[in-house]
Amino acid sequence: MKIAIIVGTRPEIIKMAPVIRVCQQRAIPFIIIHSNQHYSPEMDDIFFQELSLPTPNYNLHVGSGLHSNQTGNILIKIEPILEQEKPDLVLVQGDTNTVLAGALAASKLNIKVGHIEAGLRSYDKSMPEETNRVLTDHMSDFLFSVSKNQSKVLADEGIAKEKIYEVGNTISDALFQHIPLAEKNSTILSSLAIEPNNYLLLTAHRASNVDVESHLVSLVNIVTHIANKYQEKVVWPIHPRTRKKIEEYAITLDEKIILTPPLGYLDFIQLQKNAALIMTDSGGIQEEACMLRIPCVTLRENTERPETIEVGANVLVGRSLDKALAAIEAWRNHSEYHWQNPFGEGNVAEKIIDAIQQISVTNPEKRNQ
Ligand code: UD1
Ligand code: UDP
Repeated sequence: MKIAIIVGTRPEIIKMAPVIRVCQQRAIPFIIIHSNQHYSPEMDDIFFQELSLPTPNYNLHVGSGLHSNQTGNILIKIEPILEQEKPDLVLVQGDTNTVLAGALAASKLNIKVGHIEAGLRSYDKSMPEETNRVLTDHMSDFLFSVSKNQSKVLADEGIAKEKIYEVGNTISDALFQHIPLAEKNSTILSSLAIEPNNYLLLTAHRASNVDVESHLVSLVNIVTHIANKYQEKVVWPIHPRTRKKIEEYAITLDEKIILTPPLGYLDFIQLQKNAALIMTDSGGIQEEACMLRIPCVTLRENTERPETIEVGANVLVGRSLDKALAAIEAWRNHSEYHWQNPFGEGNVAEKIIDAIQQISVTNPEKRNQ
């Protein structure tokens, strides 16, 4: 069984890292194909270094571009590699353009596709990721769902139950493996002159929040209001997409907002772990905040991570200051949070590779049909 593992963006590198590690431990033959959808060193190289990942066997250097252009370029560049390498299985993770292109290229070559983090749905078709998720799920042969929610979504969409493996989310592996390293090695709190539990952490990169000037202005206004009301600093490791927009729209930031470049995983874990509150539109950060038991205000109208809401770890506020304040006030009565962690205990990659090995041993024709 030879596996081609496809990555392209920051969250895919982080969430695939545990799978790569298990392949290494079990001496399973694999190659890594990196689309380089993310390419700035702080969105790409730093994670290969910090997570001790091998250099990708192939780098497609696609970079940024319009959606079809980027997706098409990845598709065109992956095909000859898959033809030459002839993997038994292509693994993709998440919902980016890299995921859709990787799954489609494999599917056209009759190579089996495994989709990690299958079954997520925001039911918001204006999000490019929603189309990527739905299409990838329906092309996949093995769907690794996070929880019952996603398994049910997939089954309700007509996907055969035998294809669905409910395993949890590999972010639990990545996070739990790196907390001790973050505690030991990160000096981010002292470098930013902030104290534990005494600052808010912000990230934003969704097109719907940052690509429309009035939306980005109102997001910044909400955050500024909250910072001033609670007399807290806001640490904002800013995504390159958002930095460009802040500059383009000439938005000035309050002095309570500390802007940093995108951070490495250890520094970012340390910042999440010690924050009083996380405000974000990121998918992975909603999950990590929930696992770290830090309250999360999600600056979106919907989420494909409903379990974070169900356990009481996350509130959707869109760009409503009133909703954000109501959520924060409700949380302020607690000093600790004990909600359940719905994402797994740190052995999800093992479950995925167990399933893959089981399939190839017990059912070789399923692999090669
Ligand atoms: C992409 C994914 C999104 C994921 C996010 C993780 C899609 C459709 N979007 O969004 O699902 O949540 O990654 O962060 O696949 N840029 C740089 N350097 C980089 C990468 C991007 O400067 O290394 C800038 C470029 O101006 C680029 C913009 O950011 O045009 C957006 O990058 P892109 O990869 O298209 O989308 P993301 O917003 O990063
Ligand atoms: N992250 C990081 N440094 C940062 C911001 C985020 O290491 O400055 C990590 C974060 O811990 C999470 C992942 O990147 O694991 C989330 O990526 P992102 O928000 O870009 O994408 P999404 O999850 O929304 O697809």
